[in-house]
Amino acid sequence: MLRVDEQQSPVTFTPELVKQFDDIVSRYPAGKQKSALLPILHLVQAEHGWLSSKAMDKVAEYLELQDIEVYEVATFYSMYFMRPQGKYVLEVCRTGPCGIVGAEKIMDHIEQKLGVKEGEVTADGLFSWRGVECLAACGYGPVLQIGPEYTFYAPNAFTPNGDGRNDLFMPVGTEIDEKTFHMMIFDRWGNLIFETTDFHKGWDGRANGGKDIAQIDTYVWKVSFNDLLHKRHKFEGKVSLIK
Ligand code: FES
Repeated sequence: MLRVDEQQSPVTFTPELVKQFDDIVSRYPAGKQKSALLPILHLVQAEHGWLSSKAMDKVAEYLELQDIEVYEVATFYSMYFMRPQGKYVLEVCRTGPCGIVGAEKIMDHIEQKLGVKEGEVTADGLFSWRGVECLAACGYGPVLQIGPEYTFYAPNAFTPNGDGRNDLFMPVGTEIDEKTFHMMIFDRWGNLIFETTDFHKGWDGRANGGKDIAQIDTYVWKVSFNDLLHKRHKFEGKVSLIK
């Protein structure tokens, strides 16, 4: 249910956020900016943690819609939060198949462990929880999700010897906006020896486009990308090149 809370602080959208709005709107024909409403609400929620009525009013203003048009969409979908949430939101599927295999027990356990009821936030602001409908993983029930969240993995060694196995250093992940991917590889002296913005390319172990494989050593990688909620992430690690 929509809560109208006059105590809500005024909402401002950063220029970076508005730029992302503009980018989304530009994907639709002129005059059809309402089609951008769902992704824009996701962005606002990712930035502010929930959708206050003031935030929704600002979205309406940006998209030149009536406030009610934003409210009716935001309140229809359960993935939009109408009240502040914990930093981590635990969502337990309570639909039939998960219910049969123990969803209620999980919810009871979470309530007891966190000491807050469904929809409430723990005193440290870290957690809130709620029951949701089918999360499309019925065969694995009971299902609990914490998210939405991206995943990112990078191997710590690879063997670029051309045998077709483990030849590339190639990070993988899900919920990543591949267009925003950037990876750099540095040698032990801090020299940039490889760089790519192609998520599917990977490092083949060659330095500076050279013909030969770089020497056996440990290299530093730096990766940055946006997740599908347009949040920027940066990671750094080491990978061993083994021949
Ligand atoms: S019923 Fe729980 S994931 Fe579908």
